Amino acid sequence: MSTAKTVPVLTIDGPSGSGKGTISALVAEQLGWHLLDSGALYRAVGYAAGAEGLDLSDAEAIARCAETTRIRFVAAGKGHPARVMVNGHDATDELRTETAGAAASAIAAIPAVRQALVQLQLGFRKAPGLVADGRDMGTVIFPEAAFKVFLTASAAERAKRRYKQLKDKGLGVTLANLLREIEARDERDASRAVAPLRAADDAITIDTTGLSIDTVVAKVFAIVRP
Ligand code: DC
Repeated sequence: MSTAKTVPVLTIDGPSGSGKGTISALVAEQLGWHLLDSGALYRAVGYAAGAEGLDLSDAEAIARCAETTRIRFVAAGKGHPARVMVNGHDATDELRTETAGAAASAIAAIPAVRQALVQLQLGFRKAPGLVADGRDMGTVIFPEAAFKVFLTASAAERAKRRYKQLKDKGLGVTLANLLREIEARDERDASRAVAPLRAADDAITIDTTGLSIDTVVAKVFAIVRP
């Protein structure tokens, strides 16, 4: 039996809207590997904290919440993203909102919150392999990963993608607001003291601005299966 350390890991880090989620899911499915959506863990903690009425700036209370929140991914069938159960409640839809993203970004800056989620993330490394999607997968959680990708795209392009997604869901948003939110989140994620958003020194950066999903998937495959 393979021990976790011998199981190959592909880390896909990058800012919100860089296409990480979509690309990671497609690559994991095509490789038949497990998928870790680490952003969903931070979103789940932010959500649980909100449900308990906690003040997001109360680091101690939020850290305790991160330690006690039960988060489970439940497979929803081929081609469908897993459902995310938070303390027994299916919170999948709530976790995808901009509010949940902003709360996640805020609580993710608390070192004890990040620490509380480390073991859970390492546990996703199972045969035959793992695709790990996040901000610090290649730098902090799986620094020895065999394959590391950093996805970027211009802030304008990322805002446009998000705008289209939300519009398709019938949500009323403006492009200018989304751009402002994306820039604010980038700034917070990249400037925090612990595990800031940055490419690992040994990551291969792919700028996805103007590229189709298929093209990006092919570029990632060229790295994993050259
Ligand atoms: O990838 P996402 O949009 O679901 O992530 C939501 C927030 O969670 C993001 O703004 C910062 C935080 N996050 C993090 O700090 N580290 C990770 N590995 C993943 C997400």
